[in-house]
Amino acid sequence: MDYLLALDQGTSSSRSILFDLQGNIVAMAQQEFPQYYPQSGWVEHEPQEIWQSQLATLRDVIRQSGISPNRIVAAGITNQRETTLVWHRKTGQALCRAIVWQDRRGEALCSELREKGLELFIQTRTGLKLDAYFSATKLSWMLDNVPGARKLAEQGELAFGTVDSWLLWQLSKGRVHATDVSNASRTLLFNVRNNGWDPELLDLFGIPASMLPDVLPSSAFYGQIDETIAGHSIPIGGVAGDQQSALFGQACFQPGMAKNTYGTGCFALLHAGGHFRVSENGLLTTRVAQHQDGLEYALEGSVFIGGAVVQWLRDGLGIIQQSAQVQPLADSVSDSDGVLFVPAFTGLGAPYWDANARGTITGLSRATTAAHIARAAVESIAYQSAALLEAMSLEVKADNGVPLQELRVDGGACVNNSLMQFQADLLGIPVVRPQMIETTALGAAYLAGLQLGVWSGTDELAALWREEHRFEPNIGRDEATSLMEKWNRAVRQTMAT
Ligand code: G3P
Repeated sequence: MDYLLALDQGTSSSRSILFDLQGNIVAMAQQEFPQYYPQSGWVEHEPQEIWQSQLATLRDVIRQSGISPNRIVAAGITNQRETTLVWHRKTGQALCRAIVWQDRRGEALCSELREKGLELFIQTRTGLKLDAYFSATKLSWMLDNVPGARKLAEQGELAFGTVDSWLLWQLSKGRVHATDVSNASRTLLFNVRNNGWDPELLDLFGIPASMLPDVLPSSAFYGQIDETIAGHSIPIGGVAGDQQSALFGQACFQPGMAKNTYGTGCFALLHAGGHFRVSENGLLTTRVAQHQDGLEYALEGSVFIGGAVVQWLRDGLGIIQQSAQVQPLADSVSDSDGVLFVPAFTGLGAPYWDANARGTITGLSRATTAAHIARAAVESIAYQSAALLEAMSLEVKADNGVPLQELRVDGGACVNNSLMQFQADLLGIPVVRPQMIETTALGAAYLAGLQLGVWSGTDELAALWREEHRFEPNIGRDEATSLMEKWNRAVRQTMAT
């Protein structure tokens, strides 16, 4: 029996999963690592803690499974995207802590560039909004604020990378400095239309080209995991950003196929084929995880507060003691009795993009109970996702693209049947949950397996995808439209405050 190893380096934990060649999980290990919040709006990770936690889970998963490491045909890496690291080429020492994707310190530079009217110029090359979310302003901040950094970078002594590059460097003992197209396309420095680092963007953000990793397809030979790490040298055959990896793991290979991941936030991606388009609806255009040449794009939108609204019910409002109590409480009433909860705690993302919006709960009456509020909180996850997917549908329509037929779902909260049913009701298309919901790690394993010839192409992978439950829409379109209108009214109220 042979196996594939997926290394899934997320924002709050590192995980390693061992799959068999049918895509079943054989063993899994997970380790959380510290988050640092040095000041308001800043979020950092310690690069060595990212690496050591990933390494510990890699060794743990092999130990747990009891298999010999020489049975692992290939490894794939998937990772939290945009998070920015810089290290010394000679010593491998990190220059400073990693600046995490959630960190807002690059906003000043973004607004400076916006004032110069450069937003559209940047968007037409990168498909991204000019925002501190992406890597460029984080990297620029490091070069400007860590003493001596810019000089060292100009002398070619520093390497930049997102988390995938950092792990590749560590796993290969400094032999490999690379990334893949899906991660590169989140930096604001990569021209997604001609597949290369863009000299004019590097100039704008003041980044020396010598710092940058080589960009490879997501399924490619990246090098070997050094034999001192796992007791055997294992080829690395796949790398992808976690959301694009999940799209791949969901076997969304054709235009019009989409997935939504229900985690702390929600990330929806719709395969858009080979046609690049700058969104008119506040969405991002990003490269998919690709196993072959050619340019393929996805439309992406994210909900900032998804499952995190449940944490707020627990820690902020105190109406539940444990997150698992939310569903029984929400299900104890037949509807929210007109209560709408817009959890715009940190502003609103696509399609609204209002950093100053703040949350509201509307429609309260003397009859409102904690159960109605819990129900409205859970429903807010579906409403926000529906608004995103509606924006995607508008975009596809304007482009004469392939319309969305069904939504594939994954992530922790997709096990919630009432939430998935409500999602299908709002969208008017089936919501489909696969048997395997660890699709992020699975995508990385697939990319690695394709490279090593375990499968001959994506058709074989599509055949491995198995439906576990299909939620068909249960309400009429008029009712759904009226629900969305009420939701959008409530959203407008958050924007007025
Ligand atoms: O863009 C950020 C995203 O990649 C983070 O994903 O799952 O680590 O929260 P996650």
